[in-house]
Parts: sequence; C-alpha cells; structure tokens
Amino acid sequence: MSEPALLHWTDGEQTGSARWRSEAGVPPPKRVVLADDRMTADAAYRHACEGTALLWRGDFQNARQLLQALARRADRKPRKAAATPTEAFHLHRQAQAQRARTLGMLLIPFDADHSIPLRRAPDVQQACLEAYGPAQEAYVASLRELLGLIGAHEWRKKGVEIPALRGRIHPHYGVFSPVRGEYVDLVARAPLPAGDLAFDIGTGTGVLAAVLARRGVARVVATDQDPRALACARDNLERLGLAARVELVQADLFPDGRAHLLVCNPPWVPARPSSPLEHAVYDPDGRMLRGFLDGAAAHLAPGGEAWLVLSDLAEHLGLRSREELLAAFERAGLRVVARLDIRPRHPRATDTSDPLHAARSKEVTSLWRLAAVGA
Ligand SMILES: C[S@@+](CC[C@H](N)C(=O)[O-])C[C@H]1O[C@@H](n2cnc3c(N)ncnc32)[C@H](O)[C@@H]1O
Repeated sequence: MSEPALLHWTDGEQTGSARWRSEAGVPPPKRVVLADDRMTADAAYRHACEGTALLWRGDFQNARQLLQALARRADRKPRKAAATPTEAFHLHRQAQAQRARTLGMLLIPFDADHSIPLRRAPDVQQACLEAYGPAQEAYVASLRELLGLIGAHEWRKKGVEIPALRGRIHPHYGVFSPVRGEYVDLVARAPLPAGDLAFDIGTGTGVLAAVLARRGVARVVATDQDPRALACARDNLERLGLAARVELVQADLFPDGRAHLLVCNPPWVPARPSSPLEHAVYDPDGRMLRGFLDGAAAHLAPGGEAWLVLSDLAEHLGLRSREELLAAFERAGLRVVARLDIRPRHPRATDTSDPLHAARSKEVTSLWRLAAVGA
C-alpha cells in the first residue's frame, strides 16, 4: 500500500503536518497558512487563487460563510464566450475545475474519530464514516468536500422516490444517483422480451435491476466495477425485498453466460473525468458504451434484446454524432428493434443561465432496443 499523503504547514517557528484526505483525488496543497475568523474574504480569495491553502482554526460556521464568500467571488469571474457548443462544454468544464480548485483551498481539521475540533462544528461523524470508512488518525480535508459528504449523507438517509418501484432508492456517497429519473421510466415501460434472465451492466444503486425484478424478471445478474456501487445496490435490494432475485457481481462489464435481456445505462458524455467521482458521468472515449455494444451479441440468448439507455446530450455538444452511434451498433452486429424517447424533466433543462443551455434544451434520453443481426 502507498503511504498516506501528508499535508505540511508552518506556524511562525513551528511546523505541523497531518494526514491529507481527498475523495476527489486532489493532491495535498503545497503551500498552507493557518487562518481564522480575522481573515477577510478578499485576502482568503487571493490566497486561494494563488494556490495557497487555508487551514482553518476559527469558528466552523464562519468557515462556511467564508466559503460562500469565496464562491461568490469565483462566480463573478467573467466567462469567455464560446463559438460552438463543443467549445462551450470545454470552457464550462475548465471553469468548473478552476472553481473547484479555488474553493478546495479552505481546509478543516478532523480528529481520528471524524469529529471536528472547531467551535460550533456540527456532528459529521456518520457522514464521514460512510464516505471515508473508519479513520485511524487525525486528518485534514477541504470544507467543500465535507459539504459534499454531508449532502450525500442526507440523500442516503432520505432516498430518492422511484415511482416505477413504488419505493425509494438510497444512493451511497460516490454512487450514481437516479435523481433524474426519466431514464428509469423508459426501463419500466419498454416491452420485456420473453425469458427469465437479465444482466444489468454497471448497476450503480441497483435501480434498474430492481425495476426489472419488480416487473417480473425471474433472475437478474447485476455487475459493477465499483465496490461502493455493489454495497449500495445490496443495501437497496434488501430494503426493497428483492435481494433473493438479484445476484451482484464485481465485474468489468458482463458476467459469464447469456441472458434474454441486457440492460446498460453507461455514462452519457464521452470525456475524461476530472475526479474519481465523475466516472459515472463521463466515459473517456466512450469506453463503457463501446464495451457494452461490442460484447452484447456474445451475451445475448436467442431472441434476446440489449437495452441501451443513452441521452443525446453528447450529440448536441458535438462530442459524438448520431452516425457514429449507429455505426457502432452495426460494427457490434446489432440492429435497432425500436427506440423509446423521453425528454428530461429536471430544472436545468429549462435554465437559460446554464452555459450549456442550448444543448440541454434539445436533450432527449432514449432506450435503444437492440437485437443481434440475424437473430
Ligand atoms: C451512469 S452509471 C448508471 C448506474 C445505474 N445503472 C443507473 O442507471 O442508475 C454507470 C455505472 O457503471 C459502472 N461502470 C463503469 N464502467 C464499468 C465497467 N467497465 N464494468 C462494470 N460497471 C462499470 C459505474 O461504476 C456506474 O455505477
């Protein structure tokens, strides 16, 4: 195992160090100064923009307010105008990455039991335990990451209502959440091919495996590469009383054998993730999409169907063309049986201040029903 990363700082004559944690995979900042309630937002913003991190020693709630003040300053930065949707996408991601770097410079100390040794700090032990696991020693993480962990903990507690399940799915930290549920409705609606076995490839929270089981598919084998997703899916299937019908397998794409139905909802945008948490949204070079298509014919039982769930946002952003997608079906020996479409209902689709609004306003999510050529 590699040594845990350490964060070092100096305080006058004294030096200090602590274990560094970042689920986003950010390396420990090289320059760190101690900061407390006396620091102004302008001074803090200057430091953060220069790449100097602020290790907070003051009141926790003041650190929260300072982070909001930093966010307001970061959001005031003028944006470059884009000539094309593709350029708008790249500029948007660049700006997001820059904003994340700047806001990630405000750091909070944690004790070995995940408690925060600062005035007016909330109890975040359970949220940290869920994302980080048990801690062996004191550590430092960014306040921005902590707020993400707290948000994830709230979602996990509350769950997301899935009408097709007449129940809730509880996403774990770092697992793709079905908050934009319209794609789930497609899987709930498409006519099931005859047969009693389905594979759910890249199951995430287990939501699509659960929908198939609820629809009466006798057995589902659901895979994922990410142990967090598998733990989350297990938890959800047990809560829904479907654990006996769904087998969870850690695998790269397909399990062994053939099934009557293959379902896959790969990340929709072919781009490089900028942190491990983005792996469910961005699929570098469309690797998972291609892997699913290329392996489908060899895993389909006679008369079976492969259901690909995919939005056309990447097409509107100029990152993949419809022709390329159709050519990929053909190369994989698949033909289109039918396509079911649905338009997103989420508020961003109508938010005109979103830099990607032009593309998002045209977005359609599809379930492609594919069959092996000749079958
Ligand atoms: C967009 S999420 C979809 C999750 C879930 N099926 C849903 O519809 O909500 C894609 C999932 O595929 C998983 N994944 C990515 N590459 C994979 C691979 N090569 N094999 C198995 N799972 C993979 C990710 O961990 C993630 O959980």
